[in-house]
Amino acid sequence: MIIAVDGPTASGKGTVAKNLAEHYGLKRLDTGSLYRAVGLAVLDAGDEPSDVGAALAAAEALDLGAIDERRIRSSAAGLAASKVAVIPEVREVLRRAQKTFAADPKGAVLDGRDIGTVICPDAEVKLFVTASLDERTRRRLAELHARGEQITFEELQAQIAERDARDMTRKDSPLYQAADAHLLDTTALSIEAAAQAAYAIVDGVIGPRG
Ligand code: DC
Repeated sequence: MIIAVDGPTASGKGTVAKNLAEHYGLKRLDTGSLYRAVGLAVLDAGDEPSDVGAALAAAEALDLGAIDERRIRSSAAGLAASKVAVIPEVREVLRRAQKTFAADPKGAVLDGRDIGTVICPDAEVKLFVTASLDERTRRRLAELHARGEQITFEELQAQIAERDARDMTRKDSPLYQAADAHLLDTTALSIEAAAQAAYAIVDGVIGPRG
C-alpha cells in the first residue's frame, strides 16, 4: 500500500505521515528533507540555490543516509529548498530516488508536494493536508524558537507565503490537491485528532487495517 501525503509547509503533513507509517507498519520518506538537504548543501558550498549547476551537483551527490536532520530544519534551509525545487534537473534526480523508495513491494508512506500527482499518481490513498496560514506560521515559529532561531511572526509569515507561492506556481510539479486526494484541514485539530482523522480516511478507502 502506498499512502501519498501532500500539502504546504507546516500544515502538519509530516506528523500525519509519521503517524500513518507507524499505525500501518509502513516505512516513510519525508521528501521535503531531500530538497532541504540539497538546498543546505548549496548554501554550505557558498553557492546560490538558484544556480542550476551547483544545485544539480548537490542533488547528484546527495547521500540519503547522511542527511543532517537538525541542520536541514533551519528556515534558511527551507527557503533554499523551495528555490532548488524549482529546477527541473534537480527534481528529475530526486524523482528517481523517491520512485525507487516507493517501489518497495511492502509499501510506504511518502509526504511532500507532488507525491499524489507526480511521484505516486497510482497511490492507494492520497491525502492533502492543509491548515490556515496563521496556524502554520504559529507552528513553525514555535519550532524555530525551540531551535533558538530569532525570527518574528511577521517575517516568518512572509517567508512561508513566499514559499507557498513558489511551490504552487512553479512549472514542474507544482503543489496542488490531486482530484482523488482527501482533504484534511488540521487548523483546529490536535496532533492526535489529526492522526485519527487520517486513519479514518485511510480505513474508509482500504477497510480497517487493510
Ligand atoms: O515540506 P518541506 O517544508 O520540508 O519542503 C521544503 C521545500 O521542498 C518546499 O518548499 C518545496 C520542496 N519540495 C518539493 O518541491 N517537492 C516535494 N515533494 C517536497 C518538498
